[in-house]
Amino acid sequence: MTLTITQLHKHFVGEAAGVDLSQPLDAGTIDEINRAMDTYAVLVFRDQPLTQTQQLDLARSFGPLDMGLKKLKKQPDRLEHAELADISNVGDAGGTVARDSKKIVSNIANQLWHSDSSFQQPAARYSMLAAVQVPSSGGDTEFADLRAAYDGLPEEMKTEIEGLEAEHYALHSRFLLGDTDYTEEQKAALPPVWWPLVRTHPGSGRKILFAGIHARSIKGWTVAEGRMLLMDMLEHATQPEYVYAHKWRPNDLVIWDNRATLHRGRRFDLSQPRELRRATTLDVGTNERAAA
Ligand SMILES: [Fe+2]
Repeated sequence: MTLTITQLHKHFVGEAAGVDLSQPLDAGTIDEINRAMDTYAVLVFRDQPLTQTQQLDLARSFGPLDMGLKKLKKQPDRLEHAELADISNVGDAGGTVARDSKKIVSNIANQLWHSDSSFQQPAARYSMLAAVQVPSSGGDTEFADLRAAYDGLPEEMKTEIEGLEAEHYALHSRFLLGDTDYTEEQKAALPPVWWPLVRTHPGSGRKILFAGIHARSIKGWTVAEGRMLLMDMLEHATQPEYVYAHKWRPNDLVIWDNRATLHRGRRFDLSQPRELRRATTLDVGTNERAAA
């Protein structure tokens, strides 16, 4: 098979064709996809109806799987495999869940710009999101290119932020949304981790502005000053110049590199089902200078 790619945005995102993701991939194809991910950071595959097991098998061929917030066990699983994240507003009975359910908080938390599992060590490398059903309007997923965002910083800002480390905490975004109902055990299950604010992507060699909503402080700075810098960096990285909006169709499979991008879901009518499934690989091997 030959992977062909059409670039969809000035800076990043490729629409990929020529490969059937439901079948086991040979080493050469995996290598091609990895190299394409290093270049494009986001790959869009259309018309790839995958069973839940096929989606997990695909993810496993790129590395060990990430469980993310599932460690907190706040919601019962609806899907066949614990390793799949249920990115949906659909309940066990098949209809949409009530507006005040915990699941809607998760939906809304996904609408804040983030890098999946940046609050843990190791964090996530690839997320693979498959669309099952989508609302008639809204509910896009947007991606921001953190490499282009870094390149676009003024030189004096690049100098100022070089060497800074940001604290990433799993529940920071939830607290921002008023979701504070966690036990001490749950809070302790995912202790904060530190990541350099400027990182180098091992596959592309490009520098990355590693911001996102999980970041809540800068090492050695006051909370207020650090948080303001993080908000400034997030605002910079997510300006339209660096953003691609993906309009979902059922059977889309989108893979993104959490080391090189941020993403967020967009608002949609919560009375309409939006059902996506995510498999995620762990970023083993590129955890430079991180400390708990
Ligand atoms: Fe996410």
